[in-house]
Amino acid sequence: MRLHHWIFLLQFFFSQPLFAKCGDFLNGEASESTKYNYEEIFNQILKAKCFFCHGEDGRREGGVDISTYPALIKDLKRIEKAVFIDKIMPSGDFLTAQQYAKLRAWIDAGAPE
Ligand code: HEC
Repeated sequence: MRLHHWIFLLQFFFSQPLFAKCGDFLNGEASESTKYNYEEIFNQILKAKCFFCHGEDGRREGGVDISTYPALIKDLKRIEKAVFIDKIMPSGDFLTAQQYAKLRAWIDAGAPE
């Protein structure tokens, strides 16, 4: 068999439900997607790393409020830029690698409520 036949067979194999988890494993973080909603992202990441300056007691640094879903969505593009591109937020404290991966996966999944 030629190489592309093997590749096709492997893709077929990992597309089967029973083996899909292995496929996710081979694809690294792919299995992270769609698992989180706003509440989980808030409780696991934003509450500890952003809330203090962007929501608590009316504090809205840079005009950004992450304390409710609609407020966060309004500034999602700025948030994505500040955290992942400019890497200026959170200020003072970084996210753990796992928190970065979760936030990335949540945004990539369309930031579901
Ligand atoms: C210790 C306080 C503090 C924390 C914690 C913090 N920020 Fe900020 N943030 C600021 C300040 C101050 C500004 C305004 C900076 C400026 O205008 O120059 C800002 C600005 C921003 C902006 C606007 C950037 C722009 O100019 O478009 C975004 C988006 C943002 N923060 C997101 C976040 C996110 C997401 C987190 C958590 C992961 C976070 N921040 C954590 C203090 C904080």
